[in-house]
Amino acid sequence: MANRFQAPKGTRDLLPPETAAWAAVEAVARRVFGLYGYREIRTPIFEDTELFTRGVGAATDIVGKEMYTFADKGERSLTLRPENTAPVCRAFLEHGMDRLPQPVRLFYIGPQFRYERPQKGRYRQFHQIGAELVGGKGAESDVEVLLMLVRFLGELGFRDLRILINTVGDAASRRAYREALRTYLLPLREELSEDSRRRLDTNPLRILDTKSREEQELLVGAPRLESSLTPEAGTHFRQVLSALEAFRLSFQVEPRLVRGLDYYTNTVFEIVSEDLGAQNAICGGGAYEGLIEELGGSPTYGVGFAIGEDRLVEVLPADSLARRGAPRPVLVAPMGAVGEQVESGVRVVTRIVEDLREAGVAAIESGARGGRLFELAEKLGAPAIVFVGEDELVEGTLSVRNVATREQEKLPKRDATARLRQFFP
Ligand code: HAM
Repeated sequence: MANRFQAPKGTRDLLPPETAAWAAVEAVARRVFGLYGYREIRTPIFEDTELFTRGVGAATDIVGKEMYTFADKGERSLTLRPENTAPVCRAFLEHGMDRLPQPVRLFYIGPQFRYERPQKGRYRQFHQIGAELVGGKGAESDVEVLLMLVRFLGELGFRDLRILINTVGDAASRRAYREALRTYLLPLREELSEDSRRRLDTNPLRILDTKSREEQELLVGAPRLESSLTPEAGTHFRQVLSALEAFRLSFQVEPRLVRGLDYYTNTVFEIVSEDLGAQNAICGGGAYEGLIEELGGSPTYGVGFAIGEDRLVEVLPADSLARRGAPRPVLVAPMGAVGEQVESGVRVVTRIVEDLREAGVAAIESGARGGRLFELAEKLGAPAIVFVGEDELVEGTLSVRNVATREQEKLPKRDATARLRQFFP
């Protein structure tokens, strides 16, 4: 027997009924983002590799270890997008969106690819729902995207999510801080992990993100970024925090939060869920003042976030409307010879089923009979069974059986249809 195939490691098939929750989550995203004036952008799934090396940063884990990079038949180096902020900024420049009224508000929904060790909540193909506000004005823009993010999660039924927030300062603050941190860590170099020793030279801020207990202890006495902040960067952060307070958003300043992408400046944030285990971040984001310039544009303020949709769906609250999914079709069962009856070249049952759909009732025909029909209805989650026998045809009625209550009624077709409609709000 030939070997069967499996989805590649780290990828998975999304199947019904779970796909209904995905679609519902995406519908809420579109509606809420629309309230804030965001419109959808769809960029290619692969890009020039250099977009990410330059945009996300050559020293990051994403670029250093996790990219799906390949040469196409024309010898171009391409990469499956590991994230979508750099592609959106590339498109912003490519299509002259810098000449549109600013800021430009965009959102996206789609797959991203990172070669990471698969585990619960971590996949090699995962999905993000993200938004970018490009060409905005500092703190005010940060607050807008945070309000939108929290409204979206609130509408999905999340109640106690807390925003972890920090500032990584502007370019000048970062330069000063990088030096201060290096000076502190150099004498401790031998005690650091290999990864951290490498980061000491490339990107010392990332060491703050360490998961190792020993390293966290070494960091207890490390200088804080706060002490290197320029006055402008300090003001920016205070403005964001006071606006969040004014809107009563719950947040926690997390001085160690630095994020794993190099483009961030000033505000960075994450939202974590206790229900997720080790891979607990459902959303990450922040501002990026240098990215558009890095990609060849003029200095432009950008800020945005991306939510991991896989993780989001996994921890949807039990009472979230998005969990409910679309109702399943009713079963239409022709009785006796009705199943074979043809009128004007069309089976009579086919016409009845199609009339129900026309009226907004999801319906499929079933050839099952008797006890098997009820079993099938329960298995499929059909809310009702519609019987069509000779009598019903003659009378212009339908017999409707409610699967949950087991009550059965014979009703004129119009009334039966109205009754069935109630299952499909
Ligand atoms: P990120 O923190 O790398 O940020 O990813 C955002 C979210 O994507 C994470 O919080 C997580 O929920 C999800 N995620 C990341 N990797 C995986 C994975 N391997 N499996 C499942 N979920 C994953 C960014 O990507 C930035 N582009 C966010 C941003 C937008 N910043 C500004 N604008």
